[in-house]
Amino acid sequence: MDRREMLKSGAAAAGVALLPQLALAADAAGKLKPGEFPPGFLWGAATAAYQVEGAYNEDGKGESVWDRFVLAPGKIKNGDTGNVACDSYHRYRDDIALLRAMNLKSYRFSIAWTRIQPNGTGAANARGLAYYDRLTDALLEAGIRPLPTLYHWDLPQELEDRGGWPNRDTAARFADYAAIMGRALGDRINNWSLFNESKAFTQLSYWQGVFAPGRKDALAFLKATHTVNLAHGSGYRALKAANAKLQVGSVYDVSPHIPATDSPADRAAAEAMAKLSNLWFVAPVLTGRYPDGVLPAQQQAALLGWQSGDEQLVRADLDFVGLNYYSMTRVAASAQNSGVPGLNVTVDWAVGPDEKTDFGWDIYPQGFYDILKSMQQVTGKRPIEITENGAAYNNKPDATGQIHDPKRIAYLRAHLNALSRAIADGVPVRGYHCWSLMDNFEWAQGYSQRFGLTYVDFDNHQQRTLKESAYWYAKVAAANRVV
Ligand code: FCB
Repeated sequence: MDRREMLKSGAAAAGVALLPQLALAADAAGKLKPGEFPPGFLWGAATAAYQVEGAYNEDGKGESVWDRFVLAPGKIKNGDTGNVACDSYHRYRDDIALLRAMNLKSYRFSIAWTRIQPNGTGAANARGLAYYDRLTDALLEAGIRPLPTLYHWDLPQELEDRGGWPNRDTAARFADYAAIMGRALGDRINNWSLFNESKAFTQLSYWQGVFAPGRKDALAFLKATHTVNLAHGSGYRALKAANAKLQVGSVYDVSPHIPATDSPADRAAAEAMAKLSNLWFVAPVLTGRYPDGVLPAQQQAALLGWQSGDEQLVRADLDFVGLNYYSMTRVAASAQNSGVPGLNVTVDWAVGPDEKTDFGWDIYPQGFYDILKSMQQVTGKRPIEITENGAAYNNKPDATGQIHDPKRIAYLRAHLNALSRAIADGVPVRGYHCWSLMDNFEWAQGYSQRFGLTYVDFDNHQQRTLKESAYWYAKVAAANRVV
């Protein structure tokens, strides 16, 4: 057996060959006691390239929209940047040691497109590929399943200069990049996610203008949503063409949309907004159709830039579905148009009556159960992985250097109990990834919001220290139940 073969069999041992476990899981689901998880359940943690890697201009990496956006005054809290972040580009072995210390068997990370294709097109940059090669081999050697996301928001700046996601051509560029990655790592990585949170990044980047590249143009946003759906189809086909055995999924951020009052107008607004946020990507990808009742029917095709035949092009028969859950969304009808034709709403993310995390997000574990049950209506029997869930609490080390974060433990415990209940009630969830493995660059909030199970000292060589929640989570993973 050569080294590659050995790593491939390591991949199977690391939970890549999931089918038998799934059958087992389905069987066991009905018999679960509160807080228990099915045998073979995959415990993991998540990060994303721009948030942890640093090394923003090393080894031939090109400029991404985030590399550019962080330089614009006033966009990021305290003027922070991801230039160094957690320095995972050099310290990935430390990250793997953290995963091992927590008994985790799955690591969700993302690949920086600009390391692979510095300008978003053309031949692969060997030094960039080599980093993910090293990371993959080190994970497999540690018995941890790699779960890469191809796109966690860091579009090559050059592609933005050519129109970005509102430009239909970007879907073909994404497919080229997906093909490169499938060919490079498909022999060792079986499970791939196409996109992270298509809803969040299209809305925040092109409609609200608070994420890179900071555009505030509702019509550009609508075009971007359609290009991203086309890229689901083209990226899926590219990965399967690179290696027919690859299991391809995508990650969607979902949240129950709760009307601000019981009035018919607020209820209608919440329903429309729920379709635009929870279903706008996964539904066309799985069925070839956008949900009705969001855009005016007569204008929809023009607003999206829809072309005949797109009902086939957007389709991707996903092998699994990743879901991210944090909180609820409150929606009210508004006298003002949101910029999206026909949509008169105001939307408050995570502002309900419940207790809040340090970020101000509502703690609403029942919403996790509810949204899983309702998403299953759309995703059917496909396996689901929870690809993110977690909370920002900004506890600092005490005098002895320990980090006590009891509120994070309480948040995770409540959400894991809700998840266990959803699985017992038939939702086919096979894995859970806490956001995040470690404190990192939290987009527009810079380093001010700490989501990590691990404390990172950004003033002292990115030194990592497990928090109390990490020790607790390690016990959960080992016991396969909430403790
Ligand atoms: C999600 C993002 C992730 C992280 C968490 C807190 O929306 O996917 O990168 O920022 O929120």
